[in-house]
Amino acid sequence: MSRFDRLGRLFERHGHRVYPGWARASLLTFAGRLPPRARVLDLGGGTGLLAGWMRAVRPDLELVVADASRGMLARVPEGIQAVYARAEALPFPDAAFDAAVLGEALHHFADPEAALSQLARVLAPGGRLWLYDFDPRPLGGRLLRVLERLWGEPGAFYPPEALVQSLAERGIEARAEPRGFRYVLLGERKENASGSSSPSR
Ligand SMILES: C[S@@+](CC[C@H](N)C(=O)[O-])C[C@H]1O[C@@H](n2cnc3c(N)ncnc32)[C@H](O)[C@@H]1O
Repeated sequence: MSRFDRLGRLFERHGHRVYPGWARASLLTFAGRLPPRARVLDLGGGTGLLAGWMRAVRPDLELVVADASRGMLARVPEGIQAVYARAEALPFPDAAFDAAVLGEALHHFADPEAALSQLARVLAPGGRLWLYDFDPRPLGGRLLRVLERLWGEPGAFYPPEALVQSLAERGIEARAEPRGFRYVLLGERKENASGSSSPSR
């Protein structure tokens, strides 16, 4: 049972409000540049909001929404694959995806470092990453972290530079595009990175 199970309807109706126009435009540009019929993982994808946006501009993509809430997954649009999974133990083979997107999801994961290792494992060499999250240092991010922790969520927000570093340790080269307390991060899994990269910590 996840605390998100009862929030599917709310996210279906209002989830888009969390994404400013520039973040949505960045996602659509990202989707537009993927190779034909690319297999794309929407990790912590909830109701499939991001997958649905990508499908609207790239109907050829093979989209998979993975999430740990059955209540959220129940609202994933028809035609998009919905998989019940914890980000820390993804049920996909190595290099299964050509791209991955995470929208305001990473900071909800109980063990984000394990999730990043899994993300690196399932991304194919050369695979692309798009991620949207919040910097916990500016006022907006600090408030969000307090609110989420009061709600009982991990609130594991990464400053963008720390996330870039964590990804680099896992063979994903990334750059962050911050705007106030929000940021988009774009990454690419290095061609020569090993299949199951996992730094010792
Ligand atoms: C704030 S919602 C974002 C959903 C979606 N990305 C969106 O933008 O609408 C965070 C999502 O992370 C999921 N989640 C939380 N912990 C998770 C975990 N350990 N593994 C997979 N998904 C998880 C929740 O079930 C929820 O659907």
